[in-house]
Amino acid sequence: MKYKIVRNTKYDFTGQSYATLYPNLHKYPATMLPQIGIEILKELNVKSGRLLDPYCGSGSSFASGLECGLTEMYGFDINPLAILISNVKFTKISINKLVETKKQFRNNLYEFLKNENNIHKLARPQITNIDFWFSKKIIENLTIIKYFIDQIENEQIHRFFLIPFSETVRECSYTRNNEFKLFRMKEQDLLNFNPDVIGVYFKKFEDVLFLYSNFYYPKLEHEPKVEVQYSKFQPQDDFFDIVLTSPPYGDSRTTVAYGQFSTLSNEWLGINYARKIDGMLMGGVKPKENITNGIIADYISTISKTDNKRALEVSAFYNDLDSSISKVSRSVRKGGKSIYIVGNRTVKNVQLPTDQFIAEKFTENGFLHLITYERALSNKSMPCRNSPTNKAGKTVATMLWEYIVVCEKMK
Ligand SMILES: C[S@@+](CC[C@H](N)C(=O)[O-])C[C@H]1O[C@@H](n2cnc3c(N)ncnc32)[C@H](O)[C@@H]1O
Repeated sequence: MKYKIVRNTKYDFTGQSYATLYPNLHKYPATMLPQIGIEILKELNVKSGRLLDPYCGSGSSFASGLECGLTEMYGFDINPLAILISNVKFTKISINKLVETKKQFRNNLYEFLKNENNIHKLARPQITNIDFWFSKKIIENLTIIKYFIDQIENEQIHRFFLIPFSETVRECSYTRNNEFKLFRMKEQDLLNFNPDVIGVYFKKFEDVLFLYSNFYYPKLEHEPKVEVQYSKFQPQDDFFDIVLTSPPYGDSRTTVAYGQFSTLSNEWLGINYARKIDGMLMGGVKPKENITNGIIADYISTISKTDNKRALEVSAFYNDLDSSISKVSRSVRKGGKSIYIVGNRTVKNVQLPTDQFIAEKFTENGFLHLITYERALSNKSMPCRNSPTNKAGKTVATMLWEYIVVCEKMK
C-alpha cells in the first residue's frame, strides 16, 4: 500500500446506529454515521472554519460539524431529495409556527375532502407511469395533500411539510420499500394494498416533528449557516477549511442507486429530470477508453481482460471522482484538511483501492496524505448485498471495511 492504512477500532462504533445521536428525518441510502465525523474532527482539533461536503446526501457531516462547534457549512448534491432533507434538518424553524400551520393545513384539507368533486379542480400530477406506481385513490389523496402543502407561503415551513410527504409517497406507492432500487411489489401483495394516505401523512408529520424538535432544533439555537444546493460542486478558490464527506463508492447503476431510490419523491416534488439523476451522478457517463495511469490502472486492466464494458464503467466513476477532487482541492485554503470516508468495492472479484486512489489524487493536487484509518463497517444503511450485474436476485456481499482518508493542503 503506497498510502499507509492503520486499523483503528475507535472508529468502529460497533452497535451504534445513526439514530443513536441524530435520527434521520427521512430515509436515505448509505448515510455516514455522524459519530465518525465528530471523532475525526475532534482528533484533528477542528473547532472552527468553513466546512464543505461536496456530496452531502442527507447531511450527516453537518451534524458532525454542529457537534464540534462549526457554524458555517456548505453542501452540494445532485439529488434534489437529498438537498431537501439536509435543508430541513439544519434550518431553524419555529416549532410553534409548524404546529399552527399544521392545524390550519389539516382544517383546510378536511374541509376540501367534504366535497368529493373538489378533486376534479386539481391538476393531475406529472408522474411517469403514475398508474403503474399508485392506485387511483392514492393518486387523488397525494394530489390533495401536495396541493395544500403548496399553499404554504413560508418557504422553510413549506419545505418541512414536504419531508413527511416524500416519506408518504414512498410508503403508499407500489414500490418495495425495503429496496433502494425501484422495484414494484408482487401482484399478490397489491391485492390488499390500500393504505390510508392522509393518515400516513399526519403520522409521518408527527414523527418528523418529534425528531426535528428533539434532535435538530436544539442544535440550531445560534442559527448556524448551513447552505446546500442541488447541483454538482461549484469550486471557489481557497475558500474552505475542512472537507468532510463520504462520496458514492461506485456508479449508481451497479452500487447504490440514489436516483432510483428518490425517483417517485423527486417527481412528486416537481423534478422533471428525476429519472435522469443516476446518469448525472459519478460514473454516469461511460468514457471511450479505460484509465491507463495511476494506482487504479492495473486493477481496471485486470477487469477489462474479463469484461471491458465493466472496466469502462469503473473508469467512468474514477474519472469523475478525479475531476471532482481537483475542483475540491483548489477550493481548500492552505493548511486546510480533507476527510473522505470511502469503501473499496469489488468488481469482477477485483477489490478496487478507492482509499489509495483518493490519497493519490489529493497528493497530485498539492496535499499531503496524513493517515488512513480502517474501520469495521457494521452500521451503514446499505444493502448487505448488491447487484454488480444489476440482475434481480443475482447479488454479492458488499463491503466489510471503510476507510477514513485524511489529507492536508500544503501549497
Ligand atoms: C454516500 S452518499 C452521501 C451520504 C451522506 N454522507 C449522508 O450521510 O446522507 C453519496 C451522495 O453523493 C451524491 N452524488 C453522487 N455523485 C455526485 C456528484 N457528481 N456531485 C454531487 N453529488 C453526487 C449522491 O446523490 C449521494 O447522495
